[in-house]
Amino acid sequence: MSKLRSQIDVRLEFPALAQEVSGRPLAYLDSAASTQKPNAVLAAMERFYREDNANVHRGVHTLSQRATDAFEAARRTVARFVNAQSEREVVFTKGCTEAINLVAASWGGANLGPGDRVLVSHMEHHADIVPWQLIAQRTGATVEPFPITDSGEVDLASLEAMLAAGRVKLVGVKHVCNALGTVNPVAEIARLAHAHGALVLADGAQALAHVPVDVQALGVDFYAMSAHKVYGPMGVGALYGRAELLEAMPPYQGGGDMIRTVSFEGTTFNDPPNRFEPGTPNVAGAIGFGAALDWVRAVGLGAIAAHESALTAYSSSRLAEVPGLRVVGTAPERIGVFSFVMDAAHPHDVGTVLDRHGVAVRTGHHCCMPLMRRLGVPATTRISLAAYSNEADVDAAVEALHGVRALFT
Ligand SMILES: Cc1ncc(COP(=O)(O)O)c(C=O)c1O
Repeated sequence: MSKLRSQIDVRLEFPALAQEVSGRPLAYLDSAASTQKPNAVLAAMERFYREDNANVHRGVHTLSQRATDAFEAARRTVARFVNAQSEREVVFTKGCTEAINLVAASWGGANLGPGDRVLVSHMEHHADIVPWQLIAQRTGATVEPFPITDSGEVDLASLEAMLAAGRVKLVGVKHVCNALGTVNPVAEIARLAHAHGALVLADGAQALAHVPVDVQALGVDFYAMSAHKVYGPMGVGALYGRAELLEAMPPYQGGGDMIRTVSFEGTTFNDPPNRFEPGTPNVAGAIGFGAALDWVRAVGLGAIAAHESALTAYSSSRLAEVPGLRVVGTAPERIGVFSFVMDAAHPHDVGTVLDRHGVAVRTGHHCCMPLMRRLGVPATTRISLAAYSNEADVDAAVEALHGVRALFT
């Protein structure tokens, strides 16, 4: 915590944290579902609507130019944050889900055929399973899970054997698992996939806020991002795609801004990234996304990671004090996410009791039904940490969990 800008100061930058829930100070431990937003992000978005509000790429007037400049500056910020070679490799989307749908529909529609295989890990989020199933139905390709271990790590040997069996066109994997916190060896997966002629899409929804992301060092072909998981607004995200792949991909949706010329005889399309951004984009959202990444950079990802790592160790020992609580997913490489089950109560009851103590956690299958089945649990309760989380939050959760036991046993 020493290097993180004083922990108290960091918390004060998040207005939503300064409230009581059920008569107690809010302990927000649901950051993997969505992080809270710092003042810098809220101010950047409000400033856009108060001062620059205009459509982008379309007007010669001053406001439109300012809006376009701010929107494109945000694109450069995203590109720099993940070390893309060029901002032209960054497409703004509605979020991580749309980024993956874009690749599945556009790249998948053009490149998958009967007998082709798409491999996704058994721990994937539904957002990295269902879009592939939809395009597989249309193209005759298949979607197959590659195995994970009981501790919640990808089984690289099995993945390699599946790749060696042939016809794999793409491997999809989460960089960081939202349900278990596992940090997956994406660079190694990319190396294996490329050795067998397959592309790699990494789902980075949970990574940006916690681990350094360098798309070139990871060697990924596509990287999907979500702003609201990294202190930015909801409803905006981005797709990184290697330039030559994006250039060869057909449009995903049609409309204004993504075209070069339109006539009833035929339409020609814009270059990427505009080719994939039809209609009025979420300009304020993109600006907020950029401001969020600037905030992370200013605080320091290294300092945030060090703080979260110390708090993860603290949480681990505190949760171990609760009788009948079992943490699911024990990979050594993980971020501050704890999924657990309790002998005493179903996760939904646990979540409800915790809310009565002012503690916000997520319960359910975390959009990972195949993973839950693989681990033999119907659902879990999940605590997830962020830069603003502190020991008091964890203490409040542990006290409430003792309350759950008292109530249900
Ligand atoms: C690993 C992972 N992938 C994808 C998503 C979907 O992100 P979004 O809803 O922002 O599109 C989430 C959100 O929960 C996630 O945790």
